[in-house]
Amino acid sequence: MAIQLGDEAPNFTAETTEGELNFHEYLGDSWGVLFSHPADFTPVCTTELGAVAALKPEFDKRGVKVVGLSVDTIDRHGEWAEDIRDVTGATVNFPLIADKDRSIADKYGMIHPNANDTMTVRSVFVVGPDKKVKLTLTYPAATGRDFNEILRTIDSLQLTAKHKVATPANWKQGEDVIITPAVSDEEAAERFPGYETVKPYLRTTPQPA
Ligand code: BEZ
Repeated sequence: MAIQLGDEAPNFTAETTEGELNFHEYLGDSWGVLFSHPADFTPVCTTELGAVAALKPEFDKRGVKVVGLSVDTIDRHGEWAEDIRDVTGATVNFPLIADKDRSIADKYGMIHPNANDTMTVRSVFVVGPDKKVKLTLTYPAATGRDFNEILRTIDSLQLTAKHKVATPANWKQGEDVIITPAVSDEEAAERFPGYETVKPYLRTTPQPA
């Protein structure tokens, strides 16, 4: 069965460009992003890996450890890193798993046989410090991901894990948020003084710190 929100992220030990990695140990108390790409030396993937490398300081700022994966070998990953640097100017600065036997891809359902039976699709798993899956995304090979959107979702996940709030459509860091329906008006007044009632079920407040 596919991995669902709230499931424990399956643990694994893998060969990576930064040595052997045990996923849960590597994450420690941090948040994590495990993402797959279809294949090394392919155009969209080259732009994606460069984009993630360039955004690494943003992931670091949020306490998020990033791990990439494909079914290519360590040698291929290493050679491809030079191309990624040539094309995007960014040096791959996070571990890239060589999942040659597809064991991790199978655990995470990253191969969708009706799309392609040998390559991983563009999967993203955001994992919380409790090792539970907080968000999943799946993109096809021909559509590159927007990694700023993944950072935006992490901002929301981290905020909503800490406060009794939810984030509206197109929300960005610093904008008003929604008080969750489970919070009574009395509790809302205590926690979020001056909150606004747009509808009885839609109450907004400035983003809490
Ligand atoms: C790409 O990264 O451009 C790509 C990878 C696999 C299949 C198609 C496109």
